[in-house]
Parts: sequence; structure tokens; C-alpha cells
Amino acid sequence: MIKCSRRMFLLGTATTFAGAYAAACGSSPSAEIAATEIPIGSAKIVDGVIFTQLKEGEFKAYSQTCPHQGNPITKIDGMTATCTAHNTSYNLSDGSVISGPGRDPLEEYEVKQDGSNVTTA
Ligand code: FES
Repeated sequence: MIKCSRRMFLLGTATTFAGAYAAACGSSPSAEIAATEIPIGSAKIVDGVIFTQLKEGEFKAYSQTCPHQGNPITKIDGMTATCTAHNTSYNLSDGSVISGPGRDPLEEYEVKQDGSNVTTA
């Protein structure tokens, strides 16, 4: 049996916490699109990011990676994005799950409007 000293326990705990923090607080990918290319009431996928325009000038961005098992989301229909791997559908107004085996919402990124372009922050 391997003995775990207090020091090793604390080191392991700190390492685990740092890894979880980095995963949760990782930076968003750098993606950019002309605002005019994002349809109002729908979305467009660019460089791993789903850019949506809920109303004119109101943008959101989500990860293209499906939270269910990590496949890329490729189907957009209005404000619904569907991962065709196992057919989980997401509401692009807030990233929530509409239906499917997936339970977790889409990862949302901050967006900035920089002149005529929309970028992830
Ligand atoms: S990986 Fe997307 S629904 Fe399963």
C-alpha cells in the first residue's frame, strides 16, 4: 500500500484545482466575422464558433463543440443548433438544451463588436 503524506495530498489537491480552474477559465478561441454575414434570427459557424444574431445588432457566440461527447455541431436551423452525432438540439438564444441525450448547455463566449466585425473576446 502506498502512503500519501500530507504534503503529497495538498500538492495533488492544488494540481487538480489548478487544472480544473484552467479548464473552466480557459480563453475563448479567436474568431471573427463580419456582422452582416450573421443572419438575423439565425447563426453562422466560423473557426469553431457559432455566432448568432438574435435581433439586429444583438450578438452571441457559443462553442461549436457539443457538450455531450465533443463532436462538432454542424446544423443550424434558425435559432436551433443540432449536433447530428446523437441529435442533441440547442436553443441559440441562451445555449440551453432543447432535446436529445445531451444535458449541458453550450459553452458561451463573450463577443465584441469591433466596427463592422464581431469577434470573440
Ligand atoms: S456529441 Fe453531440 S449529441 Fe452527442
